[in-house]
Amino acid sequence: MVDHRDLVRKLSSTAADTENPLSWFEELYMRANRDERLIPWSDGNPNPMLVDWAIGKPTGKAIVVGSGLGDDAAFLDDRGWQVTAFDISSTAIDWSRERFGQSSVRWMVADLLNLPMDWIGGFDLVLEIHTLQAMPEELRAAAAKKLAPLVSENGHLVCIGRYTSGDVGIEGPPWPLERSFIEGIGQDLGRMNLVNFRLPFDEIPVTRFRASWERRMGKIN
Ligand SMILES: C[S@@+](CC[C@H](N)C(=O)[O-])C[C@H]1O[C@@H](n2cnc3c(N)ncnc32)[C@H](O)[C@@H]1O
Repeated sequence: MVDHRDLVRKLSSTAADTENPLSWFEELYMRANRDERLIPWSDGNPNPMLVDWAIGKPTGKAIVVGSGLGDDAAFLDDRGWQVTAFDISSTAIDWSRERFGQSSVRWMVADLLNLPMDWIGGFDLVLEIHTLQAMPEELRAAAAKKLAPLVSENGHLVCIGRYTSGDVGIEGPPWPLERSFIEGIGQDLGRMNLVNFRLPFDEIPVTRFRASWERRMGKIN
């Protein structure tokens, strides 16, 4: 039996040597042929640290970056957010539409590295989960810079992923992110709130983070 993580690493390292190093996402979704068990990052539920973050937050316009099979977007939609969700994989977007046909989420194919200009400053919540850590290092920093500019006045940026305190030689994807990299994602948003955690099934040494920022107008962070 093929280990799904091995397949992810094989597809990603093959794509890394081509002119489209992100093409393996589409390939993986196509190969899965609508079998959710073959998508290693999907367990059919919204991320628990998103669910936790959303408690008590007023709703507004949200954008979900690299939305995968759509569970986080559908969760926010259920909570009353007005949600745009995008992914570079058209198969993932079609699949999300099928899974959440009743939702009001606006599903779109888009590339984080090349976003529409009219999205700048347009969202009360910009949500990125497990996407930066799945991108090769040479694209990751450029991709991270695209997030903060999307945040509206008084809006939030929330990033969730794997964390490393600087261990070297991790074979990804995923490539856990270091604190200094995570801090840089917020750019002009000011002070970062960082929570480290483990999920119940995580094996040591996996640790995770949720980083959040708020664009607070007229206040010094
Ligand atoms: C590891 S998966 C995580 C999916 C989802 N966020 C989750 O937590 O289940 C990364 C997702 O980001 C998408 N992705 C990768 N690079 C992207 C890019 N440049 N623009 C938009 N989506 C991208 C992939 O197709 C994939 O669905």
